[in-house]
Amino acid sequence: MRIGVIGTGYVGLVTGACLAELGHEVCCIDSDRAKIDRLLAGDCPIYEPDLPALIARNRMADRLSFSSHTADGVSSSDVVFIAVGTPADSDGEADLSFVHAAARDIAAHLRGFTVVATKSTVPVGTGDEVEAILAAHASDVETAVVSNPEFLREGCAVGDFLKPDRIVIGAETSRANAVMEAVYRPLTARGCPVLFSDRRTSELIKYASNAFLAVKISYINEIADLCEDIGADAAFVAEGMGMDARIGGRFLQPGPGYGGSCFPKDTQALLATARKADATLSVIAAAETANRRRKRHLGARVAAATGDLTDKVVTVLGLAFKAGTDDMREAAALDLIPDLQARGATVCASDPEAIVAARPKLPGVAFFRDAYAAAQGADVLVLLTEWPAYASLDLERLHRIMRGHRLIDFRNLFDPEAVARAGFDYISLGRPA
Ligand code: UGA
Repeated sequence: MRIGVIGTGYVGLVTGACLAELGHEVCCIDSDRAKIDRLLAGDCPIYEPDLPALIARNRMADRLSFSSHTADGVSSSDVVFIAVGTPADSDGEADLSFVHAAARDIAAHLRGFTVVATKSTVPVGTGDEVEAILAAHASDVETAVVSNPEFLREGCAVGDFLKPDRIVIGAETSRANAVMEAVYRPLTARGCPVLFSDRRTSELIKYASNAFLAVKISYINEIADLCEDIGADAAFVAEGMGMDARIGGRFLQPGPGYGGSCFPKDTQALLATARKADATLSVIAAAETANRRRKRHLGARVAAATGDLTDKVVTVLGLAFKAGTDDMREAAALDLIPDLQARGATVCASDPEAIVAARPKLPGVAFFRDAYAAAQGADVLVLLTEWPAYASLDLERLHRIMRGHRLIDFRNLFDPEAVARAGFDYISLGRPA
């Protein structure tokens, strides 16, 4: 099939490269000429494991092309995916101006029957708006507007696309369903389940899924806090809960509070949708509030464990919102580090990938690529992102080079016995003191 993808951001690029990998002929479009030039020169503009190799392979096989001309991705395509950004506006609602502009742009270049599928995370009813734009600007061409949400995690997006738990297709006609079924046949042939629904339901499935995962994380974070207060172990609580197939063991890892470009934005957008519909989503609202509070209190937790932070050197290991990405959006580091500085601490920080993104957001921080260089002379070490490389740090060496010996682990990455053997005073989440 011939497929166009509008937007070469995170979702668009992964979608385009993976659809090419499935054997389709894909053209990725972006109005940002400089970005297209980078892609044409073989440079991948985002950090995502496996993506550069996938792009290179499919470019070599002539299945993947890049262009800044919308016509190249629309005029002869069977399906055009909209994969542009939907940032939050000041009320937490999704700003749809890029989606609307993409729809107008597509309308100007349509030739024959085309399925227009929305990959961007969009509020319920956006498909109707895209349909109205296409009808107004391309009334002579038959189209079908479909919702086809993505469920890609940063850091494992290629695997998530090629081996998904499910594919959700929200369409209003059997003709559109048949086209989308053909797009994903290489995956369904391998046994991947597909859920066909109407368009509005599909749009909501995306938000309801992300919000549910956000609730799950806030839930285990509060249970972990309770464990600390009453002397129980959150890891075993989570394991015991997760053995019940109705609950499931994934996404029950306590942490510093969820971040990234999706959970914070999507929970707020869903709450905004509920407000407009005069509906109540009190569970999601509570999860959101709990997460905000948790991130705001990280500095207080460090101070409670350490005492006065004036003139202390605190080294933060990990800045990205999670491991496997260079993304700093809504990262816990953005709450913790300014708070530590306000409490009088000097902050040093390290991250394998996120320093370039973190530098402009965190003034006054000394950045080091090497974790040992960052920890040299520090009073306190705070582990904030669960990069696997940090799990194998030489704890004896860290102990030798640090001035103080307190280690605060906001991801429960380290083995408490190994840390104690190395001589650290260790604080982690949800474990009895
Ligand atoms: C999330 C969803 O997992 C994807 O399914 C979805 O497609 C994507 O949003 C999106 O809407 O585009 P992502 O934001 O990349 O993916 O990151 P996650 O791996 O879900 O982690 C989100 C946050 O939750 C991170 O801050 C992570 O550290 C935190 N987390 C996750 C925990 O604190 N505990 C856990 O057990 C799991």
